[in-house]
Amino acid sequence: MAIQEHDPLLSVEHLSLSFETTESSVVVLDDISLAIGKDEIVALVGESGCGKSVTAMSIMRLLHSPPAQYKGGNIYFQGEDLLKSSDRHLRDIRGNRISMIFQEPMTSLNPVLTIGDQVAESLTLHNKLTKEETLKAVVDLLEKVRIPGARQRLKSFPTQYSGGMRQRIMIAMAISCKPDLLIADEPTTALDVTIQAQILELLKTLKRETSMSILLITHDLGVVAEFSERIIVMYAGQIVESASTRELFKTPLHPYTQGLLNSLPKLHNLETRLKTIEGYVPSLGKLPVGCHFHPRCSHVMPICRESCPPIIEIKQGHTCRCFLQSEACV
Ligand SMILES: Nc1ncnc2c1ncn2[C@@H]1O[C@H](COP(=O)(O)OP(=O)(O)OP(=O)(O)O)[C@@H](O)[C@H]1O
Ligand SMILES: [Mg+2]
Repeated sequence: MAIQEHDPLLSVEHLSLSFETTESSVVVLDDISLAIGKDEIVALVGESGCGKSVTAMSIMRLLHSPPAQYKGGNIYFQGEDLLKSSDRHLRDIRGNRISMIFQEPMTSLNPVLTIGDQVAESLTLHNKLTKEETLKAVVDLLEKVRIPGARQRLKSFPTQYSGGMRQRIMIAMAISCKPDLLIADEPTTALDVTIQAQILELLKTLKRETSMSILLITHDLGVVAEFSERIIVMYAGQIVESASTRELFKTPLHPYTQGLLNSLPKLHNLETRLKTIEGYVPSLGKLPVGCHFHPRCSHVMPICRESCPPIIEIKQGHTCRCFLQSEACV
């Protein structure tokens, strides 16, 4: 489904954020703009350390300040500017209208509380329910995320569940309040490929059933091909490309996106070795002058070493931050 330009569910506009200590100030998010439509699945992709989790945490306003400092921009959710919302109102929005699931479920689940109690807690946080209603709602939720024998397993502890099951529990807790937006930060990275596919399929089914929007964060472009409708590519604190999934796979414009796609295994080409992108992601505190990607780029031009390219819309719905494209546009 195409993004609804006029009234997106979430609209982040020119968001900049830095981490500041007495010794240093590091820009972690640089002019981030993205929008997620109602009922849409968007993927945020990029290598480790590029700022994906910080983007998610900054949308949820979960970053501690200090060190985090918003430097500019707006975050509109259902038309409301989250950067201007009170802490109390934000608490109401979090886990109610926007939910988040994290990469490593064990750090979010309490090891000494039973699964039943933890899911019940997330349910009763925003709803007043009797004991019987809570029990029924917990079992319903666990069945919804396909936990076999849900009723019998309520008194089990997180360590008695497998990694995939624990991630299902996290999903159950995240959807317990029927959020409008679910932010899933690397929900399947710690899982093996089969379980990973099952979890993504489950998220897709739940999205269809509840018509929530999903922002999926991952470093793996392969994962998003089947899952998301649109892809946003991040590199070193900036968005470098965004397009519909079909368009991005068919016509990747940024050399970084092209590198990510080339590093995916291809079914018909099992003999050749996987191509990797040469070099390393720069530390955000020591970014190169000019385009952040230029030291690793095989198309580098003199201008790339001098100034940072702006992000521009190359064609409708396809943006790119690369001088190769702006040259082409001139
Ligand atoms: N609380 C914090 N204080 C200072 N720096 C931080 C903090 N959280 C993250 N960073 C820095 O911000 C940058 C972006 O981190 P982030 O966690 O968003 O990366 P990521 O894209 O999610 O990577 P990964 O794929 O490894 O999860 C990193 O350089 C990280 O060290
Ligand atoms: Mg992360």
